[in-house]
Amino acid sequence: MKRIPSGIPGMDELIEGGFLEGSATLVSGGAGCGKSIFCTQFLYNGAKDYGEPGIFITLEEGPTNIWWNMQRFHWDITKLQTEKKLKIYRFGMYDPAVFANKIDDELKKIQEMVEEMGAKRLVIDSTTAFGLWLEKEQMIRHTIFKISESLKKLGCTTLLTAETNGKKDVYSAFGVEEFAVDGIVMLYFVPPNRSIFVRKMRGTNHDKRVHPFDITDKGVTVHSKDEIMWESLH
Ligand SMILES: Nc1ncnc2c1ncn2[C@@H]1O[C@H](COP(=O)(O)OP(=O)(O)OP(=O)(O)O)[C@@H](O)[C@H]1O
Ligand SMILES: [Mg+2]
Repeated sequence: MKRIPSGIPGMDELIEGGFLEGSATLVSGGAGCGKSIFCTQFLYNGAKDYGEPGIFITLEEGPTNIWWNMQRFHWDITKLQTEKKLKIYRFGMYDPAVFANKIDDELKKIQEMVEEMGAKRLVIDSTTAFGLWLEKEQMIRHTIFKISESLKKLGCTTLLTAETNGKKDVYSAFGVEEFAVDGIVMLYFVPPNRSIFVRKMRGTNHDKRVHPFDITDKGVTVHSKDEIMWESLH
């Protein structure tokens, strides 16, 4: 199976060289731990260094905000957007009463975009937002499964974010997202340290330690040779 480089320095060393092509990985963690930046970098470097077009599907921050965040890292996304190698798409916002009925339309739109661009990478930021639009827990679970199953059929390598309460053994917001994916990457922020841990990665002999990572003006860098003790996390 082909491995897809993450585009994040130090990350591929933890996962045998990259994500399996076509797999879906949950990037989970508490507020502000770096999920969105991690995912943006996966798309930006994927397009720039590996010629793989990607789509950032946002359910939270608006496209302008995401664009500004990328400027902060000196990532020239305008060029990639013009070349149709990168696209930011705002998932439609609907009244909770009709949201469930609109999902199929949204998935169709995403499929069309993937085909049009020949996209190889996808990001959904975040799955937690679905919970705000769906009232029943059962419906949230069903929707997250449905969406991840449909996305898998598109053949893209996908990252989905989930917001947790920040606790080290909580992998998602609804306790179901982790079962719909092939991999889980946990991000932690216990001041002053940021750290990363691969909780699961199907088909991969992944690293089992917790490693520090930094966010700087260049984006995310994982320090794969350094270690943070599991006990020091909350
Ligand atoms: N240029 C930078 N240099 C250093 N740290 C930065 C820089 N830009 C952002 N950060 C850090 O990254 C954090 C935000 O990262 P990001 O938006 O990826 O987190 P998130 O997990 O997606 O958060 P949320 O839960 O709000 O969606 C900021 O709170 C800040 O600490
Ligand atoms: Mg975010």
